[in-house]
Amino acid sequence: MKTIICEASPKAIEQAVALIRDGGLVAMPTETVYGLAADATNGRAVARIFEAKGRPSFNPLISHAADLEMAMKYGEFSDMARKIAAHFWPGPLTMIVPRKESSGISDLTTAGLKTIAIRVPSHKIAQDLIKAAGVPLAAPSANASGTISPTAPFHVIQSLGGKVDMVLAAGICAIGLESSVLDLTGDAPVMLRPGAVLPEDIAAIIDAPVGTDYNPKDAPKSPGQLLRHYAPSIPLRLRAVDVMPGEALLAFGSLKFMALRGGGAASSLPEDSMRNLSEERDLNEAAANLFRMMRELDTQDHTGIAVMDIPETGLGVAINDRLKRAAQG
Ligand code: TXA
Ligand code: MG
Repeated sequence: MKTIICEASPKAIEQAVALIRDGGLVAMPTETVYGLAADATNGRAVARIFEAKGRPSFNPLISHAADLEMAMKYGEFSDMARKIAAHFWPGPLTMIVPRKESSGISDLTTAGLKTIAIRVPSHKIAQDLIKAAGVPLAAPSANASGTISPTAPFHVIQSLGGKVDMVLAAGICAIGLESSVLDLTGDAPVMLRPGAVLPEDIAAIIDAPVGTDYNPKDAPKSPGQLLRHYAPSIPLRLRAVDVMPGEALLAFGSLKFMALRGGGAASSLPEDSMRNLSEERDLNEAAANLFRMMRELDTQDHTGIAVMDIPETGLGVAINDRLKRAAQG
């Protein structure tokens, strides 16, 4: 298959909508990562997503809606869910709610569950595409299953070129980490995947505690919780305090105290063997850079990647979650 690559424009969106109506796959930009979108109500189109990603088909997908009103056609939103939506949508938050019986969403999208994951993205192009398509778009990250999520159009081409009908290119994703996933189907809200919307942000809005369950002991409720996920092809060594021979360095902050094992300063590493997530130790900047820099260091020239310590606060929780999963293996 030939993949059409287009700068996102009104005309390109028109073409993308025609493809989606026809059961095609379109890689769409969002503020978190690029998504591999298809009509969530069309089982055959959704099956193509699983095929392109090589993803186990028991994994439920997120349905993307243009706004809360549209989302309410597919899911049951309690007062609390509406309050959360009013505050955090559009934005990097996915909510799991009971699925409406008559929703028309394909069982393949929700993996046969009685619940549905819905998100309203804030990215202008994603918004325009969903509105023009007039149907919810099922969209996991636009990468081969188990590999690093794409934060730039060419990451999508590298991973899925020839397997998607079209890539709507719109530069680099501002947030760079997948959305926070909040489960609202139990007695109390529980965050299943950490992201840019923090549990404490939600707790403040609903004035009630929000639990977290990022590493469940039993069968994962959310396949994003599978331990090895988001992985590069070479080993990752976390909380490194020095760099071993052959390793690349993924730095965070100042390199002043970072040395090469066997002698020398980390700052003397060749340019291709070092990236700094954020010299200023800004966690937002680090999140936006994380997946791209992991990809850039993931070459056969390196035996592994040493990653400096990142504080387990705020967005650092989501960054460390992705790093820990990438380090399993
Ligand atoms: O930022 C994002 O969320 C991106 C962009 C493209 O929007 N999408 C994304 O989709 O990361 P995906 O399919 O890679 O992640 C969906 C997550 C998985 O962890 C999945 O297990 C969980 O949502 N999920 C979906 N439906 C669920 C359900 N009914 N119950 C529990 N977890 C669910
Ligand atoms: Mg993914």
